[in-house]
Amino acid sequence: MNRPRELWMTRIGFVFAAAGSAIGLGNLWRFPYIAGTYGGGAFVLIYLLAVIAIGLPIMVAELLIGRSAQLSPVGAFTRLGKNKWWKIVGWLGVASGFVILSYYCVVGGWIIDYIVKSSLNLFHGRSPAEIEGMFDILLKNPLLLVFYHALFLLLTTYIVSRGISMGIERWNNILIPVLFGLLLLLTINSLFSPGAREGIKFLFHPDFSKITPAAILEAMGQAFFSLSLGMGAMITYGSYLDRDTNLMNSAAEVCVLDTIVALMGGMIIFPVVFSYGLAPSAGPGLFFKTLPVAFSFLPGGRLVATLFFILLVFAAVTSAISLLEVVVSYFIDERKWGRKKAAFLVGFAIFLFGVPSALSSNLLKDVTLLKGMNIFSSLDFLATNYMLTIGGLLIALFCGWFLSRKTMEEMTINGNNLFLYRIWRFVIRYITPLAVLLVLLQKTGIIAI
Ligand code: TRP
Repeated sequence: MNRPRELWMTRIGFVFAAAGSAIGLGNLWRFPYIAGTYGGGAFVLIYLLAVIAIGLPIMVAELLIGRSAQLSPVGAFTRLGKNKWWKIVGWLGVASGFVILSYYCVVGGWIIDYIVKSSLNLFHGRSPAEIEGMFDILLKNPLLLVFYHALFLLLTTYIVSRGISMGIERWNNILIPVLFGLLLLLTINSLFSPGAREGIKFLFHPDFSKITPAAILEAMGQAFFSLSLGMGAMITYGSYLDRDTNLMNSAAEVCVLDTIVALMGGMIIFPVVFSYGLAPSAGPGLFFKTLPVAFSFLPGGRLVATLFFILLVFAAVTSAISLLEVVVSYFIDERKWGRKKAAFLVGFAIFLFGVPSALSSNLLKDVTLLKGMNIFSSLDFLATNYMLTIGGLLIALFCGWFLSRKTMEEMTINGNNLFLYRIWRFVIRYITPLAVLLVLLQKTGIIAI
């Protein structure tokens, strides 16, 4: 239990590593299409509220739990919980990581295909309609999809099998700034497209009639997904932190970075959508149907596109690592498996579990689980909107009501403003759990707001 843990080398290194977990497909692929489906501006507004009132406080809570326990989630709840039932929150997190990674890798695989396509210049000179069609053709190719799914997972598994902390830190220090620069370029590019005005209006002008219980649940789920919360990923990252780090500032920085990237994703995609008469509610394919179009009116598009998709695969891998690490560290810490064995066995199990998601648009397209959604979307819906949010609710309750006073006050020893600490403590005890609970209850129809 007292083995020395590697620590992050610099505070910024840590912020970038945590941002590396947060920034991924959730920002550029998931956020725009969910926002597009649930009404644009109104959704974005609720999303921002969820980040501030729910995401930020829970991120602080997860980091604090991880740092004081110096253990992965299951161990952390066992050690700090003084009650064996809290372990279940850790298990729920392990299960969420398993499920999310199984389809996250499928999307990661789609991006790999787009590296290949853009490096071969296959998007060049095609009309938006043809580019849209190319994505649908990819979805009809079961072998290729399973192959890419396996490739993406192999990359993730390999990195996790070698141990994460130092490698990740170095990668992210380079990756995040470069990705940021490229996104900025793309955003500016999109702002000059003919549909820019309409796209930006769609994204930022709330139409309050579009706020429904379903949209509120999705916005909250998206906040958990995008910030990597609700399953203990940030507990793991916090366990590599030393006592001198100011958790409140670090968490705020991660939330801001993540939100900027998501909003940039929207500002890149919606102008293209409105320039070419595509549908904002195109679903999971939205990113893939619009991005190549955005590149087509950029000078040097082929090179920039290839570089962009490569960077995005890395951003996705750094997120996938944090999902896998939660599951793997459970087997290492609690079952005493070696890291290599744990990484490859878990990786293989996730591969198998993810195959039906890869096939859900072709061989298994008639199989529906929840509300007529295919396997892929059903797993995503269940994991994001229920597993993560319930996990987050329990983490908030644990932190607010069951952590010892001494542990809570670790928040104040490193220059944290006492006033901010008190606000956070109030929010994590009352506001956050109530907000999550209300959203869940009103969606299930138990209460109506
Ligand atoms: N946040 C990542 C993204 O936006 C995905 C992710 C990584 C994640 N770790 C997580 C989601 C933990 C939920 C929980 O792409």
